Amino acid sequence: MASETISGQTSGISQLVSSPLTASAIFLVVTINPGDASRDTVLSLCADVSALLRSVGFRALDGALSCIMGFGSNAWDRLFGSPRPAELHPFREFRSGPRHAVSTPGDLIFHIRAKHMDLCFELATQIMTRLAGAVTTADEVHGFRYFDERDLLGFVDGTENPTGSVASDAVFIGDENPAFGGGSYVIVQKYLHNLDAWNNIPTEAQEKIIGRTKLSDIELDDSVKPTSAHNALNTIEENGREIKILRDNMPFGRPGHGEFGTYFIGYSRSPRTIEQMLENMFIGRPPGNYDRILDFSTAVTGSLFFVPTATFLDSVSPVQSSPATSSEAQSDPTSSSSTETSASTAPSNDGSLGIGSLKGDNCHE
Ligand code: HEM
Repeated sequence: MASETISGQTSGISQLVSSPLTASAIFLVVTINPGDASRDTVLSLCADVSALLRSVGFRALDGALSCIMGFGSNAWDRLFGSPRPAELHPFREFRSGPRHAVSTPGDLIFHIRAKHMDLCFELATQIMTRLAGAVTTADEVHGFRYFDERDLLGFVDGTENPTGSVASDAVFIGDENPAFGGGSYVIVQKYLHNLDAWNNIPTEAQEKIIGRTKLSDIELDDSVKPTSAHNALNTIEENGREIKILRDNMPFGRPGHGEFGTYFIGYSRSPRTIEQMLENMFIGRPPGNYDRILDFSTAVTGSLFFVPTATFLDSVSPVQSSPATSSEAQSDPTSSSSTETSASTAPSNDGSLGIGSLKGDNCHE
């Protein structure tokens, strides 16, 4: 798995969360089918994602192929049990009037990025071949980079993303949950835009909704920027310090079907930050002072995932014992996977991650 070393973290090498923005991406969200065989298939993929990535990526070395794999709350319990990442829970919905941040199914996410779609497509194909019969696709979006890094509303999207050590500090878990240090959380939402309605309002009105100028992408001065502007509501401060997240939104669509959208993806060391942003957008800060982007955009999916370190993924064993919390383990005590003793280095029940000898450890970049 392409990965990055995070200084100060003790629990391994992180997945390549803050890789540079790419021209193409595939967002693949799947649910795991019932049964021990499905569980075993998913477990056996975890340690092999890095090898698949190398196989596909090596064929186009300048293609910057990367893949992040994340786990939903229920999937974590079923695959790994205890210990679990401290803040992993099902996606929290927010609803006010016609605005609704919906929660939709999702056990695994694959966020595949590359300079060219052929690389993303090939890796997604290889992953789904491995998972055949074990998962059901909940959502698949193929995103593309639009002119000047703009979204389909016509605004440059991503300008205020943190970079370098600020980005690492924003996305990677540290001392607050040492057993999962170097991991991250990711929230995704697929938005569909009513572009006819959006393009019917004046540019000046659009700029007040986003909080930046459209052509030159300059932030509006506080004297003219409404408190409901998108970038105002998404500025979160704690104890006088701004808490950043890392976004890699992508436009997608099908003009022939009148479909125009933005796939929102945000990484953070705590889901609380993104949940606070969603509350500000959908309910308002204060309530009622909501984000007018939502008058023109509808969230049709919503899921939260934990992104473990690459070290953790590489160490998952396909013959891992079923966790005590798994309902299947309880209902089917005779199943082979629930009775085998784990040789895995994935989480043990003593509160540590139990990382031992690492498979494929030499593959990190
Ligand atoms: C319809 C979907 C969305 C669109 C089209 C959109 C578009 C934009 C644009 C154009 C900007 C200004 C440029 C920039 O700094 O990137 C921006 C900023 C931002 N957006 Fe969004 N966004 C969407 C959804 C979200 C969601 C759901 C969140 C969080 C839950 C979010 C969080 C942010 C943050 C944190 C900023 C930077 C604010 C700042 O520091 O100035 N966005 N977005």
